[in-house]
Amino acid sequence: MSHAEPHVPAADRVIVFDTTLRDGEQSPGATLTADEKLEVADALVALGVDVIEAGFPAASPGDFEAVRAIAARVKGATVAGLARCNEGDIERAARAVQGAQRPRIHTFIATSEIHLTHKLRLSREQVLDRVGQMVAFARGFAEDVEFSAEDATRSDWDFLVAVFGRAIEAGATTLNVPDTVGYTTPDEYTALIQHLQTRVPGIERAIVSVHCHDDLGMATANTLAAVAAGARQVEVTMNGIGERAGNTSLEEVVMALATRGTQFGGAITGVVKERLVPTSRLVSSLTGLAVQVNKAIVGANAFSHEAGIHQDGMLKDRSTYEIMNPTDVGWEGTKLVLGKHSGRAGFRSTLGDLGIRLDDTQLTEAYQRFLVLADRKQAVTAADLIALVGDQLEAAADGLRLDRWNASLGSNGPATASVVVLRGGDELVGDGAGNGPVDALLKAIDAAVGLPNELEYYHVEAVTPGEDAQGRVHVRIRAEGSVYNGHGLATDIVEASARAYLAALSHLERGQQAAVIPGPGSSVSRWS
Ligand code: KIV
Ligand code: ZN
Repeated sequence: MSHAEPHVPAADRVIVFDTTLRDGEQSPGATLTADEKLEVADALVALGVDVIEAGFPAASPGDFEAVRAIAARVKGATVAGLARCNEGDIERAARAVQGAQRPRIHTFIATSEIHLTHKLRLSREQVLDRVGQMVAFARGFAEDVEFSAEDATRSDWDFLVAVFGRAIEAGATTLNVPDTVGYTTPDEYTALIQHLQTRVPGIERAIVSVHCHDDLGMATANTLAAVAAGARQVEVTMNGIGERAGNTSLEEVVMALATRGTQFGGAITGVVKERLVPTSRLVSSLTGLAVQVNKAIVGANAFSHEAGIHQDGMLKDRSTYEIMNPTDVGWEGTKLVLGKHSGRAGFRSTLGDLGIRLDDTQLTEAYQRFLVLADRKQAVTAADLIALVGDQLEAAADGLRLDRWNASLGSNGPATASVVVLRGGDELVGDGAGNGPVDALLKAIDAAVGLPNELEYYHVEAVTPGEDAQGRVHVRIRAEGSVYNGHGLATDIVEASARAYLAALSHLERGQQAAVIPGPGSSVSRWS
């Protein structure tokens, strides 16, 4: 396998290892198609992360292909593929990342007594042997090999010393200490990292990495404590998405280090802070996982001031109630950026400033949609444009498209709707009646398209604040045991719902369902 020299960071530089596309994508309901994963990977490169964990190649052919495509495309960042400590997984991961400029194999095995007894049914000696053999096997494919001791924070510390020692002897270049079940505390994690740093022979040759889950709401605090103790890689996800309560939030760690770095030994990251909010939005809109309004840094209310006394202070001096500048983290989204008289050239140049590149045909369509939006909405913001273009590109990939629709609601009886859907050159027509206009329109779509399914999830949110905001709808449907997502955008939530539903049906029609990740003993469990 050919690759660039492993990256040697400066002493206070923390490596940002983004696992949005692997651990994050394991959030219930967060399923991404291969194209969506590439879009997120591009955004992560622009964000300036150091390592992109692109997936778990042995999990499914879809996961393998997605990792391979990301590896082939990404320049600058390392691309990692996850593998259990067995030859099959490691070979699969190696093949998936081999085209990367900087490939990494990330292999893991559990080390806690609970996992050894109940899950792996292996003795400590067997685990030690496996670690030595499999890390060495992985080194046969790549110079950059990360080893993770799953459930490290519930493992015996002396056993961990032996395991990590064996991993280093076998050639691991990064040692990851996961808090797999979100159990540790900042003081305990600090002590564990210090224990490993003083006891594991050869640890100074490796990067110590931390990976936390947020089950007790301490993932960010634990990660930062470990950085203060000397860890130099943080494993994080955008918006903190991930299994159960999620992983450590990338944006929280980055901004804590940028704002209070001296509290953590002066550690810094290479992340482009202005890309935090746009990347957060992209991940939220593609995964359908809404960002809670009070989420630090990227939540809609993170920089809003409601109380009169706060507003008064803010008007006198922003520093009274703001410790960060919203524009530093990419919140230009709340500013007016364009009006309907801006013209096509102004429109193109604004999209360019937002990092959005479109070909001429796409630009023409986007411009038409922008003019319609500008007629309905007073202030068209960066957030609106990002959502509009994202929706357009997604819809272009769909086989089923909304052509026209109609819904009516009266006081006597159910709502009724009719719809015309385009599939290639064909017009599919349907009528429906239901409990409200959204229900009626989805029934009309069912009548037109005829793809049986169950609607499992429906969520609507506003792209920006205000009564004329665009509504973004996310739906999840289930058909024959598989799950399909769809998103839709419009100033009218009935139309946004129809677009979202058609996107999900298009995915169903093409078989673009969620990847199902095999666990050690079953075919359906997922890794944390
Ligand atoms: O949480 C965890 O332990 C993991 C490992 C696979 C690194 O995600
Ligand atoms: Zn995890």
